[in-house]
Amino acid sequence: MRKQLIAGNWKMNKVLSEAATFMIALQAKHWPEDREVLICPPFTSLHALSKELEGSKIFLGAQNMHFKENGAFTGEVSADMLLDLGCSYVILGHSERRQVFGEDDTLIHNKVKTALKKGITPILCVGETSEERRAGDTKQIVKMQVLHGLEEVHDIEDLVIAYEPVWAIGTGENATPQQAEEVHAYIRSLIYGKYSKRVADKLRILYGGSVNPANVKELMAQEDIDGVLVGGSSLDAEKFSKLIMHDVSENSFSTENQ
Ligand code: 13P
Repeated sequence: MRKQLIAGNWKMNKVLSEAATFMIALQAKHWPEDREVLICPPFTSLHALSKELEGSKIFLGAQNMHFKENGAFTGEVSADMLLDLGCSYVILGHSERRQVFGEDDTLIHNKVKTALKKGITPILCVGETSEERRAGDTKQIVKMQVLHGLEEVHDIEDLVIAYEPVWAIGTGENATPQQAEEVHAYIRSLIYGKYSKRVADKLRILYGGSVNPANVKELMAQEDIDGVLVGGSSLDAEKFSKLIMHDVSENSFSTENQ
């Protein structure tokens, strides 16, 4: 049984005071034990939030890291620095890092290797653009990103993969549950082929791209969708907590939709 992971990626949003206010509000909420909740704020809030979250059930993650352990890399942050701040997860290879900052699969697999070696769970992001989907290349692109992203990576006991179709990110147009499930099942089959059935069965695959409280339940009902990676809808504590509660608080959806 894979434990659900509901993760918020704040991207470049929230100054420290806003981050702290959010966290106080979210900590007042309750949710079932069967799901993990993760917040990935900007680096600037990690230290304060790690103190705020001491003893809390909310996990903290980073949005990026460098693959070298230390050295002359101006502006970069290492795995040890993230561990020191209590980060359990790190998002790697997000499409914004690939597209805006030119990250390629070689850089990304070096980061994945370092994160695994250091004991931070990488969330490896993959996903096709709208042109690639229209051209019928979705599986080919995802296969390349998964297999190159995991090149020379032998042990993926603690890895999470996030399928985030680029065309669904921040657009309000989410993949349908069927579209997402098809790719998730394909990713699991790739992991089965490269590693083993046991590893594939254990791997958590998140969906990301315009997830909100109204569509999360149907997405999460799919067999191979084990959680969500949420941008915009993770910025508001009320909205995010409704999203976390997707399968038990039907009423919150109707409020949301009014
Ligand atoms: P949105 O939920 O805003 O579409 O962003 C998704 C995302 O990129 C999460 O990493």
